[in-house]
Amino acid sequence: MDIYSYIQRDHRKIAELMDDLLAINLSAVQLNIFDRIKTELELHAASEEQTFYAALEEASRKARVEDRVVHAKADHDEIRELLANLSRESIAGPLWMEKFGELKHAVEHHVKEEEGEIFTKARNLLSRDQANRLARDMDRVKRRLNVPQSEDAASLKL
Ligand SMILES: [Fe+2]
Ligand SMILES: [Fe+2]
Repeated sequence: MDIYSYIQRDHRKIAELMDDLLAINLSAVQLNIFDRIKTELELHAASEEQTFYAALEEASRKARVEDRVVHAKADHDEIRELLANLSRESIAGPLWMEKFGELKHAVEHHVKEEEGEIFTKARNLLSRDQANRLARDMDRVKRRLNVPQSEDAASLKL
């Protein structure tokens, strides 16, 4: 499996969890699913930055795609902030679902850019060997960062 398939697999898993949350009308179950979404997104963004975006940054010094990497990381920060806001509020509160909709929108927008323009550039800059190695690296980083869901999201920050 190369890094592109690895990242896409994560993206699909997160999209499914978000759809699951929206399909259920029981706060306790929604909260449980949200905890999983939060953990998955935090781990995904952190491990993706440490492996895929680090390699892309390195390979792209001459190819001028640094601005795409900066933009992607800003998207990650926005997603982390939305997750933190949602964690602070009651899932049964009046605005929670609206804010979750914002998070879903931000994630979908980011995934579209990542799998589109960014993967296209990366495929030109990174070798096939590198792409395979990065998938293993990303998985290793994610396992290292994985902590019990009850721990504060800040502990996942790099
Ligand atoms: Fe991603
Ligand atoms: Fe990303």
